[in-house]
Amino acid sequence: MAKLSLLLLPVLLTFVSTSLSCPEHQKQALLHFKASFINATSSTKSTLNRLDSWNSSSDCCHWDGVSCSSHFGSKTVLALYLDHIITSNSQEPVWLPSTIWTPLFHIRSLMHLDLSGNEIRGELPRDGFGNLTKLVHLDLGLNHFNGSILSQLFHLRYLQYLDLSSNSFQGELPRDGFGNLTKLVHLDLGSIYSNGSFPSQLPSQLFHLRYLQYLDLSRNFIEGELPRDGFGNLTKLVHLDLGSIYSNGSIPSQLFHLRYLQYLDLSYNSFQGELPRDGFGNLTKLVHLDLSHNSFSGNIPNEIGNETELQTLSLQHNNFFGKIPSSILNLKRLEELDLSYNSLSMEIPIDIGNLSNITSLVLSNNKLTGRIPSSILKLKKLERLQLDNNMLVGEIPSGLSYIKGLKSLLLGGNHLTWNNNATIEPKFILSELSLKSCSLEGEIPNWISTQKTLNFLDLSENQLEGMFPQWLAKMDVGFISLSGNSLAGSLSPFLFNSHNLVFLSLSRNNFYGELPSNIGNASSLLVLMLDGNNFSGNLPESITNIYSLVLLDLSNNNFSSNLTDMTTLEHLNIHDNKITSEFLDRVCQISNLYILNLRNNSLYGSIPNCFSNLFRLQILDLSSNHLIGDIPPKFGNLAGMIETSDVTSYIEDNLNVSFVLGNRIIDVIVIWKRSKQGISWNNLYICSLLDLSMNQLSGEIPASLGSLKALKLLNVSHNNLYGKLPVSFGDLKNLESLDLSHNNLSGSIPQSLANLQQLTTLDVSNNKLTGKIPMGNQMQTMDDPKFYANNSGLCGMQIRVSCSEALSPTKPPGVKNKETWFSWEGVGIGYAVSFSVTVGILYLTDNFVPTKPPNYRRQQRRQRV
Ligand SMILES: *[C@@H]1O[C@H](CO)[C@@H](O)[C@H](O)[C@H]1NC(C)=O
Ligand SMILES: *[C@@H]1O[C@H](CO)[C@@H](O)[C@H](O)[C@H]1NC(C)=O
Ligand SMILES: *[C@@H]1O[C@H](CO)[C@@H](O)[C@H](O)[C@H]1NC(C)=O
Ligand SMILES: *[C@@H]1O[C@H](CO)[C@@H](O)[C@H](O)[C@H]1NC(C)=O
Ligand SMILES: *[C@@H]1O[C@H](CO)[C@@H](O)[C@H](O)[C@H]1NC(C)=O
Ligand SMILES: *[C@@H]1O[C@H](CO)[C@@H](O)[C@H](O)[C@H]1NC(C)=O
Ligand SMILES: *[C@@H]1O[C@H](CO)[C@@H](O)[C@H](O)[C@H]1NC(C)=O
Ligand SMILES: *[C@@H]1O[C@H](CO)[C@@H](O)[C@H](O)[C@H]1NC(C)=O
Ligand SMILES: *[C@@H]1O[C@H](CO)[C@@H](O)[C@H](O)[C@H]1NC(C)=O
Ligand SMILES: *[C@@H]1O[C@H](CO)[C@@H](O)[C@H](O)[C@H]1NC(C)=O
Ligand SMILES: *[C@@H]1O[C@H](CO)[C@@H](O)[C@H](O)[C@H]1NC(C)=O
Repeated sequence: MAKLSLLLLPVLLTFVSTSLSCPEHQKQALLHFKASFINATSSTKSTLNRLDSWNSSSDCCHWDGVSCSSHFGSKTVLALYLDHIITSNSQEPVWLPSTIWTPLFHIRSLMHLDLSGNEIRGELPRDGFGNLTKLVHLDLGLNHFNGSILSQLFHLRYLQYLDLSSNSFQGELPRDGFGNLTKLVHLDLGSIYSNGSFPSQLPSQLFHLRYLQYLDLSRNFIEGELPRDGFGNLTKLVHLDLGSIYSNGSIPSQLFHLRYLQYLDLSYNSFQGELPRDGFGNLTKLVHLDLSHNSFSGNIPNEIGNETELQTLSLQHNNFFGKIPSSILNLKRLEELDLSYNSLSMEIPIDIGNLSNITSLVLSNNKLTGRIPSSILKLKKLERLQLDNNMLVGEIPSGLSYIKGLKSLLLGGNHLTWNNNATIEPKFILSELSLKSCSLEGEIPNWISTQKTLNFLDLSENQLEGMFPQWLAKMDVGFISLSGNSLAGSLSPFLFNSHNLVFLSLSRNNFYGELPSNIGNASSLLVLMLDGNNFSGNLPESITNIYSLVLLDLSNNNFSSNLTDMTTLEHLNIHDNKITSEFLDRVCQISNLYILNLRNNSLYGSIPNCFSNLFRLQILDLSSNHLIGDIPPKFGNLAGMIETSDVTSYIEDNLNVSFVLGNRIIDVIVIWKRSKQGISWNNLYICSLLDLSMNQLSGEIPASLGSLKALKLLNVSHNNLYGKLPVSFGDLKNLESLDLSHNNLSGSIPQSLANLQQLTTLDVSNNKLTGKIPMGNQMQTMDDPKFYANNSGLCGMQIRVSCSEALSPTKPPGVKNKETWFSWEGVGIGYAVSFSVTVGILYLTDNFVPTKPPNYRRQQRRQRV
């Protein structure tokens, strides 16, 4: 930006003769502009300090932000630098009526106008720009201008610099007009539209702007694929940003003709295919290349090594596979290399240490093997070393702790070992540390207490013992995972005095005791996982203050309701809905929960009605407790089980805690069809489960449960439920597993269950059901007699018992589709890999043989395509 302004200004600013002053009418226009600006902003808390010098007694050419030229003995205003003049104290944008512009349109000599970064809201005036025919530089970026982009701008035919970025315009990019701006060198249209704007087509006239050096179209909604032809015209391009434009298809090969390109950003789109091998031969000036968050595949071409000027190379979140090309070692200027979240295999290039300017080396979440090359210790400028979640082996080079600048050290999720001797006097001050599964033994290493800026700590899946150290509880770390160790003791209240604590997982250790009563002080807590310990007692009342909590897992502990009077306990009447569990009464006030797991505790009493307040709840597991009473009919109102939503966008939009989770994938462990499964945090939006099994619930199953259309699993087995099966279950169209076994249910199985096209597991055994098992669709495939056993007279082809009234076995329409069982994969776009893998594992290890569903939905999708 500064560079281009220079083209224009040296000429203007060379001399300012003191005997001359700016023309009176221009001064008046500017004073008028100031007055209306102040008038319009007076109601807000904003200040306009930079306009203080604008007073009527001085020469306007001397005012702050005003530049004049001297021409034939008279001066005229040439440039107005009014960027960031509003210092808004409150964050509210300033709403300015477009009329305040009018005075500026009298200054017809204006060549340079910069009003960027002023939070101005409102429409651009329809008339006026037509007056400023001399404009060369116009910057209106970083405001909230709305309305449509004015055709008047296309009359400014001397314009070289146009920045409309980060505004809230509406409508489409104008088809005609850009072709008029033949002198444009810099065009920034990044994020010009308000959210939810309609997609635009790329105006073909853009490709007539042959002097263009800078083009930013990022963060807009550009329809369809990029044009094959066009970019080849923009031969002078140096900077091209097409990030987040929702484009797909392959990248136009003409991009590889742009031999002056230094900056190329195609990130966050859906580009596919392999990168052209020879393509990089032309782009030898590239300094910044970002292809991240696309669907590129194939090998990373060896020719990448020809981009010897590269300083940042970002290929993360694609489908690249194969080896990291050793030609990457040619990129001597490289400072940031991110290849994470691909499927790269084999070893890290052994001489990676030759890239001596690297500050950020991120290779996480690939399939890299071998050892960490010791040459890595030559990278003296290293700030981020992230090799986590690969298949690396061996000892972590102990010299790392002497790299002073290191801030992020993520090595977890490999088969590495950490030599504690290395860190007796660490020189680094880390903000992120992951030594997950690095064979740590003994107490939590003491040297961590010297890491004063630590914000992310993952020491899970090691063999750590001893107590949770007090120093750690006081360190104010945002993300702490110590799961899967052998730590013991009760929790320190200091831990919860932190307003930074966002994520705490102490799963699968030996912690015990009651939860500290100040737990509610941790007001930013998003995820609390204390499952698999020996915690006991009631839930502290203060927990209801944690407004931000979305995941609470207290399963497999000894928590109990506050029913101290054991005589009450003994005489608990299983039909009594009045003895609600105080524990659950508290839980249901944590109103933003998405996931609640209280499985396998000692909770007594009935499920309170207030559960229906938990309107985001998608996963609820209350199984294996001592709950009594009815299933509250209000469960049918649980909105999160009717329609799921995306927890990550909820967090981003509503909670000020985005920092630690970032792109990290957290696995949420659920019980899926009788075995533990991990669902990736990023894929929760397609998953809803309700498990109330192994309690003493009684009464009839409320028909209202039929409205929970998003449910994939419903388990109410091993209770004392009686009455008929609700016909409304036929509406649970996403249901894959339904377990009603071990109750006292009677009547027949409703025919409506045949509507459940996703159903793969149905267990109704050990009830008092009678009559014919429904036929049709999935019901045909669920023919394991075990799941119908011990009832009072079921019949049907599934159990090879013919029904008396229909002796001739009706021949079901043959089920042709023989696709594999874990066809879930096909259900949703972008389905969690971890889920299909884990479901796949289940397929091998589960103790019953799963049935094969014909996957109707996948077929439908194919047909549509
Ligand atoms: C100041 O604003 C008020 C209304 O908000 C308007 O009536 C008045 O004309 C404005 N004065 C100037 C100088 O713009
Ligand atoms: C007007 O501004 C000039 C500086 O540009 C300053 O020296 C002068 O004192 C100001 N006059 C008044 C009346 O504020
Ligand atoms: C354009 O400039 C002329 C002459 O300075 C002025 O009379 C007219 O009002 C200006 N137009 C607008 C829309 O301000
Ligand atoms: C532009 O924003 C203003 C203030 O928010 C609003 O009054 C006006 O209707 C908007 N114009 C359009 C076209 O949306
Ligand atoms: C292009 O410029 C010409 C002449 O200045 C003008 O008549 C025409 O309306 C402009 N086109 C657009 C789309 O503004
Ligand atoms: C390339 O530029 C020429 C001349 O400016 C123009 O005629 C042609 O249509 C442009 N190509 C594309 C694809 O826009
Ligand atoms: C390199 O650029 C030239 C034109 O500038 C083009 O003809 C050639 O095909 C380009 N090479 C590749 C591999 O794209
Ligand atoms: C890449 O560089 C090598 C030399 O390092 C050279 O032989 C080769 O031709 C270059 N490739 C392209 C496509 O320019
Ligand atoms: C490494 O960085 C330094 C300082 O930023 C720079 O002077 C030097 O040229 C760089 N080395 C290479 C090989 O680019
Ligand atoms: C750690 O240091 C101790 C004593 O300095 C030594 O005996 C031991 O072998 C070292 N362990 C490793 C793994 O280097
Ligand atoms: C249990 O409930 C009783 C009465 O409601 C109350 O006095 C007592 O403090 C509660 N105990 C705990 C640990 O919450």
